[in-house]
Amino acid sequence: MEKFYATTAIDYVNGAPHIGHAYEKILSDVIYRHFSQRCDNTFMLTGTDEHGIKIQKTAASRGITPKQLCDENSQQFKDAWKALNFDYSKFIRTTDDEHVSVVQHIFKKLVEQDDIYKHTYTGLYCSGCEAFLSEKDLTEDGLCPDHLKKPEVVEEENYFFRLTKYKEAIAKHIKQNPDFIIPSFRANEVLNQLENIEDISVSRAKTNVDWSIDVLDDSEQGIYVWIDALSNYITAIGYDTDGGNEQFKNLWPCDVHVIGKDILKFHSIYWIGILMALGLPLPKHIFAHGWITIDETKMSKSLGNVISPTSVLESFGLEQPDALRYYMATAAPCGKDGNYSDQDFKEKVNAHLANSMGNLLNRTLSMLVKYFDGDVKPEFKVQSDLTDKALNTVKEVMHKFDYFEIQEAAQKIMELVDETNKYVTDSEPWTLAKNGETDKCGQVLTTVLEVMCVVSSLIYPYCPNIAKSMAEQLSYDLSVKLTDIKSDNIKVGHLIDKADIHPVFLRLDSEFADKGKK
Ligand code: MSP
Repeated sequence: MEKFYATTAIDYVNGAPHIGHAYEKILSDVIYRHFSQRCDNTFMLTGTDEHGIKIQKTAASRGITPKQLCDENSQQFKDAWKALNFDYSKFIRTTDDEHVSVVQHIFKKLVEQDDIYKHTYTGLYCSGCEAFLSEKDLTEDGLCPDHLKKPEVVEEENYFFRLTKYKEAIAKHIKQNPDFIIPSFRANEVLNQLENIEDISVSRAKTNVDWSIDVLDDSEQGIYVWIDALSNYITAIGYDTDGGNEQFKNLWPCDVHVIGKDILKFHSIYWIGILMALGLPLPKHIFAHGWITIDETKMSKSLGNVISPTSVLESFGLEQPDALRYYMATAAPCGKDGNYSDQDFKEKVNAHLANSMGNLLNRTLSMLVKYFDGDVKPEFKVQSDLTDKALNTVKEVMHKFDYFEIQEAAQKIMELVDETNKYVTDSEPWTLAKNGETDKCGQVLTTVLEVMCVVSSLIYPYCPNIAKSMAEQLSYDLSVKLTDIKSDNIKVGHLIDKADIHPVFLRLDSEFADKGKK
């Protein structure tokens, strides 16, 4: 693998980040960290989408300028991603000068080559979607199906992008590349939407939407949010209309756009048409994740059930985000909807991270200290079916990640952990020690520790701090690439002292967790 470039959707800044936004960023970070374990040349982009009527209206209602609102809320997103240990390479804001200027030139180029033209239009505009909807898109009551609001009738002279010109080519690309849209069951939905596609409005009159990027040479028009927002994926890494800098040439095309299912149409149709018009290669994959509900209910301000990711960390007294990362990343099968509930969160992370994985390491190291003073002797190092299974799990996990099956990959890791727990139960190292079968006992413990090295590598993208703590206690080098992992990881000699053994994750309801609460 030569390089890996991944992006997230850029979030609207008319509110604070919630657990749904966090779900996407956690998935993206897990993907990014996994591929960083397979490749050195990697780049992860995230950011905020700052123009449009919603932001203009929210700012006006608070009596501040749109830019002030953007600065305030964009910072909240940055803070939340820091709390979640999101290791992005760049945070783009669509109000960044460089972005603004390149978007203006992209627009100008498309006008010059007649891919964008001016046209008077009457349409139904939903400010929730920041998009024009057609009659066919609406519910029986004439409402936007996503926002349950009546769209406004807007009559304006706008610029239009000739999307219909690219319709056939887009359909062909989707059909010929079954891995282009992941999960593949969404590809048919997109092909159906494509059937009815029309040219799209890509500007708004400044008199109606003032908070937008100016069209060069036309002071009455502002570039409307989608062409502005989507272009972030190329402006952020150095594209310009002369072909872009070295970084752009190195990273583009993007390996995966991670987005929510609600904005798949914009990415797999609009964005692809724009890229075709610019003569740029297409992204390799678009991964559309599902949506997160709270206690099985759609999150909404009116229901008052919007949860912020940092409030979850605070209410459980968590200093590290690993448990929440693990829970969210495994909340749903690839592309399906998932749910957050406090109770389920607590039960799942206690069962998987504390009981199955953490305890396994803890009691194995404790036995090594109890029976062998923490020493690994040369005769303890043997090849076993279990370490073979661990190496096979590495391959399976990589395969799952190739298709962005993040929950499914974690299941493979936990299966390995369960099998290792069963191996300990079946082998009874305590009985072996009691019966004087010392070498055999040492071999069992060392085998388990070898597997735990592999587990620490595999769990790292989900739980970076827990993985580091595991690796530290195993004197294992976590920076090893997944393709280089071996079954022989534990060094012969003294491994650990009693005082250096510590739980990698404390149960959320344990007295330790309570003590940890601030
Ligand atoms: N600004 C656009 C995206 C432009 S990308 C060039 C946007 N912003 S958003 O703030 O509304 O959503 C940002 C991302 O968060 C989207 O991918 C969206 O699907 C995701 N989610 C928003 N609410 C969500 C849930 N409740 N659950 C999961 N993801 C959710 O769309």
